[in-house]
Amino acid sequence: MKRYYDFLVVGSGLAGLSFALKVAHKGKVAILSKTTLNETNTSYAQGGIAAVTYAPDDYEKHVKDTLVAGDGLCNEEVVRMVVREGPRQIEELINWGTEFDRETDGRFDLAKEGGHSEHRILHHKDNTGAEIQRALSERVFSHPNIDIYENYFAVDLITQHHLGRLVKRRHTDIECYGVYALDIATSKVFTFISKITLIATGGTGNLYSSTTNPVIATGDGVAMVYRAKGTVENMEFVQFHPTSLYNPAEKPSFLITEAMRGFGALLRTTDGKEFMQQYDERGCLAPRDIVTRAIDNEMKVRGDDFVYLDCTHLEKDKLIAHFPNIFEKCKSLGIDITKDYIPVVPAAHYQCGGIKVDMDGCTRINRLYAAGETSSTGLHGANRLASNSLIEAIVFADRAARHSLSLIDGYSFAENLPDWDDKGVTLPEEMVLITQNYRELQQIFSAYVGIVRSNLRLKRALNRLEIIYNETEELYRKSTLSVKLCELRNLINVGYLVIKMAMLRQESRGLHYTIDYPPEKGLKDLS
Ligand code: FAD
Ligand code: SIN
Repeated sequence: MKRYYDFLVVGSGLAGLSFALKVAHKGKVAILSKTTLNETNTSYAQGGIAAVTYAPDDYEKHVKDTLVAGDGLCNEEVVRMVVREGPRQIEELINWGTEFDRETDGRFDLAKEGGHSEHRILHHKDNTGAEIQRALSERVFSHPNIDIYENYFAVDLITQHHLGRLVKRRHTDIECYGVYALDIATSKVFTFISKITLIATGGTGNLYSSTTNPVIATGDGVAMVYRAKGTVENMEFVQFHPTSLYNPAEKPSFLITEAMRGFGALLRTTDGKEFMQQYDERGCLAPRDIVTRAIDNEMKVRGDDFVYLDCTHLEKDKLIAHFPNIFEKCKSLGIDITKDYIPVVPAAHYQCGGIKVDMDGCTRINRLYAAGETSSTGLHGANRLASNSLIEAIVFADRAARHSLSLIDGYSFAENLPDWDDKGVTLPEEMVLITQNYRELQQIFSAYVGIVRSNLRLKRALNRLEIIYNETEELYRKSTLSVKLCELRNLINVGYLVIKMAMLRQESRGLHYTIDYPPEKGLKDLS
């Protein structure tokens, strides 16, 4: 069962949809989405999208803030490029119908978040991502050249190694010809053959029991590219958001945007005391790795399950107007944010590393691009600056689109590709074999590969992961495909990369904090 497309896009968040819209004039495009088009990390983004708009902000300040957050590991050339190209992509979003909040005089209402030296976050109330997703989804649904495949799960890349023949342009011997994708409704596997493929599959938050990411974020793209011998890097840098709503039964964890602290909200321990100044002179607006570790430390030292975010001193009408969703959400749980403190706790939030790409979004595999959270572009280094991921997604999708448009005429469809072979496989005996391993995996990562790490914890995690890996691979070899099994397998691959890269990084840097290599200055007693 073969389907042929000029461009194949795996993922329907900001990276995938904006790429699709930019290449669709040139050929037929397929977008695969593992659930519905709008169930993406993009839709959950709250705070906004960072870009330089007015003085006193300028490019140098945005560059500097990004480099400082990245703790010495950003690629400065990439940072400069994203910061400069960002404003043009904001215009593109507006042309596609995205509404950003404005002041009464028509100027953008710019918010501030941790690590930013200026107000530069364009936002749509506290649901910016949903607004971007709405605008782009409307466009792709009505585009005559774009076919949308909802509930299609990409399982693996179709690649061939051309030994002894290096493709001149890319210096690689691997070519990508598309993907195998499971049609979830019929359980049939389709062979999607493409001239160019973009991986835009988003994050990996579900490695952890507590995450702000929706259930779709299982690192599928990273795992597929790793299995196909592409390059993956920087996976040790997992970002935890300092403030998700403390409501243990809820999945995903509901985010309390950092923009609230930019608006003046304060962190307090459960006895009402402010604590951030003890950790960093920037207080509640220090970069998020510092705030997260401070909260984690306070909770551990005091034996508390959460800290508080206090908005009660802020102007009530403005607070509700700026954060209507958070107001309503908290109200539904009996918390009136104008009068009550909000209980918050850190949660896994963003994967800084991923599929290594160059400045045009090219991976190591010929004809294969990656953009958005699944990629590692060099922008974030060891720690992402707040609201820099949406802008990275659209800037790199744009560059990948331009680059692939310049090459597509030279490509034809690969011939004689085999269809998916599922001879001899049967339904798994019991789903609990999969669900229990999934749960164990999340427990291992939450306990041993979290905010504060150590050599011993990482070693333990690796030993336990190996058991789950062997069991899952065996099950995979003999079972018919299911989404849960594939996701578990992908998370195991991704988790292996996180642990291995964390072990190799023998220092505390950015988001990777280990008690075996404490940083020269700052907290040394975190355990
Ligand atoms: P996503 O938007 O996550 O889309 C991934 C797509 O890939 C989905 O369509 C999914 O179905 C598809 N997919 C995955 N695997 C497969 C598969 N195997 N087969 C088929 N399809 C697949 N960033 C900011 O800059 N500003 C913010 O304010 C902000 N707030 C955030 C708040 C929350 C709660 C969260 C979770 C994240 C936030 N982020 C924010 C981060 C940002 O939203 C994401 O990094 C960004 O939206 C990722 O976009 P993407 O296009 O790469 O992936
Ligand atoms: C937030 O709104 O706090 C999230 C911003 C981000 O993840 O960039």
